Amino acid sequence: MGRVLTADEEERSQDEIICTGQGEIDKKLGGGIPVGSLTLIEGQSDAGKSVVSQQMIWGALNTRHKVILFTTENTVKSMNTQMESLGLSILDQLLLGWIKVFTIEPSKMKNINTFSTILTGILSYPSYRLVIIDSLTPVLGHTSIDQIIDYFEACKKLCDGGRTIINVAHTYAFDEQVLIRIRSVCDAHLRLRIEEVGDKLVKVLEVAKVRGADKSTGNIMSFDVEPGLGMRIMPLGRAKA
Ligand SMILES: Nc1ncnc2c1ncn2[C@@H]1O[C@H](COP(=O)(O)OP(=O)(O)OP(=O)(O)O)[C@@H](O)[C@H]1O
Ligand SMILES: [Mg+2]
Repeated sequence: MGRVLTADEEERSQDEIICTGQGEIDKKLGGGIPVGSLTLIEGQSDAGKSVVSQQMIWGALNTRHKVILFTTENTVKSMNTQMESLGLSILDQLLLGWIKVFTIEPSKMKNINTFSTILTGILSYPSYRLVIIDSLTPVLGHTSIDQIIDYFEACKKLCDGGRTIINVAHTYAFDEQVLIRIRSVCDAHLRLRIEEVGDKLVKVLEVAKVRGADKSTGNIMSFDVEPGLGMRIMPLGRAKA
């Protein structure tokens, strides 16, 4: 607001960015998800990984980016209903074919082939620039560290070619060493957790790593999910208390 941009921000504002449409997340990310970036969203069950991913899908579709979603949790129908109930309707874009949804049954993910299925799927739709995998958890327990790193490096190559890829997983699916190595391959790392504040539970999103974002805005936000409204930002003080 009237402030002169830093060199970092200047350079960044010239990059193309996918806004999520959720002001607070965009701010923490330094404007949104940079096109060509590889992101890891990681957290415990129920912490809001899918809601945050859906917010990103909604933002992308509304700024005319086509999306591929690999999901272990939803069918097209249930996802449409779920997003509708978060105030994030994507029915028009579904009908226009701007989002491709691939449902993978978790029980069918328990081997290395899952990684090639995902990578081949991405390559088959070159004009679909944003790719979200929600979640990788079922495959992670059935593959070696090297296979996991290879997969992330293959994703990174696709990102260098202009794709924007977001991998979602439960924190428990990684051991510490794998997480450190994956994190170094990724451009952005979002961590979600649930915290108790008084007698209430709030969801906390921490932007643990992001390329070029303005550090002065802080990297933690807390929110709740409300039927019909979606993500509702909670004051940080309460989340920290
Ligand atoms: N459509 C909705 N309406 C109201 N609340 C919702 C809705 N969708 C999700 N929530 C709430 O948000 C919480 C987080 O949901 P979300 O599915 O994003 O978690 P997650 O981290 O993806 O969990 P999981 O590990 O099970 O995949 C849910 O527990 C639920 O309370
Ligand atoms: Mg989920």
